[in-house]
Amino acid sequence: MTDDTTFAAAESRLTPADFERVRALIHQHAGINLPPSKRTMVFSRLSRRLRDTGHDSFEAYLNGVGGPGSGEWQSFVNALTTNLTSFFREAYHFPVLEQFLKNRADPGRPASIWCAAASTGEEPYSLAITALEALGPRAGTRIFASDIDTNVLATARRGVYPLAAVESLDAGLRQRYFLRGVRDNAGFVRVRPELAALITFSQVNLSSGDWPFREPFDVIFCRNVMIYFDAQVKSAVLERMHRALRPGGLLFVGHSENFTDRRDLFQLEGKTVYRRVG
Ligand SMILES: C[S@@+](CC[C@H](N)C(=O)[O-])C[C@H]1O[C@@H](n2cnc3c(N)ncnc32)[C@H](O)[C@@H]1O
Repeated sequence: MTDDTTFAAAESRLTPADFERVRALIHQHAGINLPPSKRTMVFSRLSRRLRDTGHDSFEAYLNGVGGPGSGEWQSFVNALTTNLTSFFREAYHFPVLEQFLKNRADPGRPASIWCAAASTGEEPYSLAITALEALGPRAGTRIFASDIDTNVLATARRGVYPLAAVESLDAGLRQRYFLRGVRDNAGFVRVRPELAALITFSQVNLSSGDWPFREPFDVIFCRNVMIYFDAQVKSAVLERMHRALRPGGLLFVGHSENFTDRRDLFQLEGKTVYRRVG
């Protein structure tokens, strides 16, 4: 058998019924919509979990996953999220944020920003750099960074990245905000403590109602995550984000996301930037 045939034979062990169970579980509890085209992805990601947990069939593994509260639940969720990100991704958003922060009507009050799908941290650290460059360290800007995936949150908290991840950044920014590793850490950078100090990391599931925030935000970055949600989940998240923003606050979304069907909540302000209505 060629490698391809071996893989196809193994993949067939994820039966249509197993795949449907995975789809239902992750949709019900994380809002993530897995179309049939993701079957190979699901197979390869969950195969690793099967190996690690010692199950010999997807059916047995899924019986063990059960639902939230089971020991395997978080690893199941972590395995199914897609975490692609980078520093200053979709760079056109950052000058818009900088202007917004500089022109706020009440500059005496510290600005608060929520990074709602922070992944491995490159996005919230880019927001923190932008805020420090725009307002300086005394402004007291606070950034709340969250994700549903606990593995990426651990990486984000650590704040250590391969040197290549920051190579395209301006040399001055690199010097001001990152420490270069030496000896055993050669080839890596660590975010400087002054930068990390702006950010609080926590686990938040966007599709569940109990967000832990008391104060409304000036800005929400929620980029490249709602593409995984269906229209109903997206609409519910937008309603809650509307409430979580101050009047006049900005919502930044990913390049392929548009919410023109909820003009009652958000009006388009610029390229994939929305302003809270009302
Ligand atoms: C493709 S990454 C986007 C990262 C970053 N926002 C960016 O644009 O570079 C999507 C992130 O959304 C997270 N995610 C998926 N479903 C979520 C949910 N229901 N609640 C919170 N985060 C979720 C994933 O764990 C992943 O880290």
